[in-house]
Amino acid sequence: MLYYLRMHRILIINGSFRKKNTFSILKKIEDSLSGNEIDFVNIKDFNIKPCTGCETCLKKGFCPINDDCNKVFEKMVKADGIIIGNPVYLRQLSGYLKILFDRACSWYHRTPLYGKPVFLVSTTQASGLNSTDKLLHDITDQWGMIYTGSVLSSVFNRNKILSDESNWLKKFNFYLDSKNKRYYRPSFKMIFEFSTQKMLAKNVLTLDKEYWNEKKWFSMPYYYKCRINPLKKLTSLIFYKIGSHFIGKSMKK
Ligand SMILES: Cc1cc2nc3c(=O)[nH]c(=O)nc-3n(C[C@H](O)[C@H](O)[C@H](O)COP(=O)(O)O)c2cc1C
Repeated sequence: MLYYLRMHRILIINGSFRKKNTFSILKKIEDSLSGNEIDFVNIKDFNIKPCTGCETCLKKGFCPINDDCNKVFEKMVKADGIIIGNPVYLRQLSGYLKILFDRACSWYHRTPLYGKPVFLVSTTQASGLNSTDKLLHDITDQWGMIYTGSVLSSVFNRNKILSDESNWLKKFNFYLDSKNKRYYRPSFKMIFEFSTQKMLAKNVLTLDKEYWNEKKWFSMPYYYKCRINPLKKLTSLIFYKIGSHFIGKSMKK
């Protein structure tokens, strides 16, 4: 019998200016993913300007800033899975990643990354690992991605971590095959976030409504077919109906 193994496209993003702590973990990961098509991006090599807050992306579907941002976005959209590496700056994301993610503001409403696995790497001297990891996790959940784990590195475990990568990517590899997303169980929070965006798409932003219609998401409990227990489905539906009623009413005023 002939088996066809598809090569997956994986994007690795190094959110540091340096090629040091974050980079070395990402390189380990790159090595362990050999056999796939890997695009390793050092974000400092791209000219990405900060968001000006004009909201054109939300209202008209494009960003008027002319820089390299779309080059990185295209890579993210094209990838089957994404690894994000972040050096902790002031207990949070590095400026590079924060600027990039601010520019993806419309993805909170119209995500192109739903169902793609993501793996997170954060490195610090000593503090801020959990807060940074939580923020990255929240952002990627909001994009409908499948969180598959994190590596958190500080001076206390730096050397040990580099010799410990064997199990990191098991879940990531599993969800690289997009057929497997049907086994995923989104959390309550993710389903409620989905319902909240559905409410906004139905009642507030025209572009969102078009996108959600095109994706057929209005009739779905989540972005794609997956495992959601009936209680979660029911409560999120009630939440959506009530919220939609009140938003619809306030929009008419
Ligand atoms: C601007 C800046 C802010 C930082 N903030 C923190 C911090 O809040 N807590 C901490 O423990 N380390 C902090 N660090 C140290 C880095 O998080 C740490 O060295 C990280 O591993 C650097 O990653 P890199 O080698 O990939 O650049 C900071 C470093 C810089 C340059």
